[in-house]
Amino acid sequence: MAEAVIFVGLQGAGKTTWFTEHFRDTHVHVSRDIQKAREAALIEACLKAGKSFVIDDTNATRASRAGHIRNAKAAGFRVIGYFFDTPVRTAIGRNNHRQDKKPIPVPAILRMAKQLEKPSVEEGFDEVRVIEVS
Ligand SMILES: Nc1ncnc2c1ncn2[C@@H]1O[C@H](COP(=O)(O)OP(=O)(O)O)[C@@H](O)[C@H]1O
Ligand SMILES: [Mg+2]
Repeated sequence: MAEAVIFVGLQGAGKTTWFTEHFRDTHVHVSRDIQKAREAALIEACLKAGKSFVIDDTNATRASRAGHIRNAKAAGFRVIGYFFDTPVRTAIGRNNHRQDKKPIPVPAILRMAKQLEKPSVEEGFDEVRVIEVS
């Protein structure tokens, strides 16, 4: 069964690193950092083709991921949430040292930390995994 994996975590939490280490060979990488405006089209193509994919964005609020969950389930995918339970100060520290793009401003990360809603099966995930990146 094809999988839709939805990452949930702050900027600097370690999401993209996790994708590279665990999903690169098996799942299509969907990320605003990579596809920008074409992200929705890529998800649509994966759903049509029955290809497993990972949405590697912050996906911080229930509202922001509800559509993804609904569409993936409608296409018959198994939907898995990955919660990157990284402390805010750790995420900020890593963000400041990142090589792949410019660091996100600290106030934006603090704002996101306030909004962050942990994924749960009640919102439609078939399974939720918690990643404690240390
Ligand atoms: N487990 C880890 N331990 C230490 N540093 C990490 C770990 N995971 C990621 N990093 C580093 O933290 C920074 C942000 O990681 P990244 O995977 O890009 O986070 P995100 O995609 O969630 O913004 C990168 O410089 C990365 O090398
Ligand atoms: Mg990333």
